[in-house]
Amino acid sequence: RFYTNFILDDMYLYLVDGLKVTLLITFLAAILGIIIGFLVAMVKVTYQNTGKLRVLNGFSSLYLTVIRGTPMVVQLMIFWFVIFKDFTPAIGNPKVYVAVLAFGINSGAYVAEIARSGILSIDKGQMEAGRSLGLTYIQTMGKIIMPQAIKNVLPALGNEFIVLLKETSVCGFIALTDLTKGGDIIRSDTYDAFMPLIAVALIYLTLVLVFTKILGHFERRLRQSDNR
Ligand code: ARG
Repeated sequence: RFYTNFILDDMYLYLVDGLKVTLLITFLAAILGIIIGFLVAMVKVTYQNTGKLRVLNGFSSLYLTVIRGTPMVVQLMIFWFVIFKDFTPAIGNPKVYVAVLAFGINSGAYVAEIARSGILSIDKGQMEAGRSLGLTYIQTMGKIIMPQAIKNVLPALGNEFIVLLKETSVCGFIALTDLTKGGDIIRSDTYDAFMPLIAVALIYLTLVLVFTKILGHFERRLRQSDNR
């Protein structure tokens, strides 16, 4: 949007449009992160247990080291200004694609550690029992270990989602107008910093509270069959 004559009444549209971008990037990156994270965790645990997937395990370790050892903002800027500077998709804003990729890959590294600790939290007797019953390693992983592991790490995954949501506030570094950048544009257009920035903060806070509530409900539902 371009405002040449300072239509103050329309300024809130920066927040509305920004919020859409923030939510879109967060949800898509979360999905990407969960897929990457669980795959990487599975590779690491399988290598630890069986010694198989040696090369994949090496790449996974490199991935975790590099992604967790460098700041998210720097990764985002490298993705956009270095790797995908000429990227032009058929539809949509190229920066949104790049942001989803960068945040998804970043989140995947953190999800991998969460998923790994979840798998390790399951007693090894579960794997032995599955194998004794004639299930293959993959079947036992998928049908016995993972369902229990996912339940154990749900709180940690919810936390990761909240971190990811707030972390997308660095999108402004590649001039992508997310919620934070939208508020910042209003600040610079109106010379009023208080209202837009407090509004931005309140919107994030509301999102986090709503999400926390949904997740708490979901967790209780999954624990209904537990006698503890
Ligand atoms: N802000 C820190 C960074 O720039 C932490 C990012 C954490 N990200 C996450 N998805 N848990 O690296």
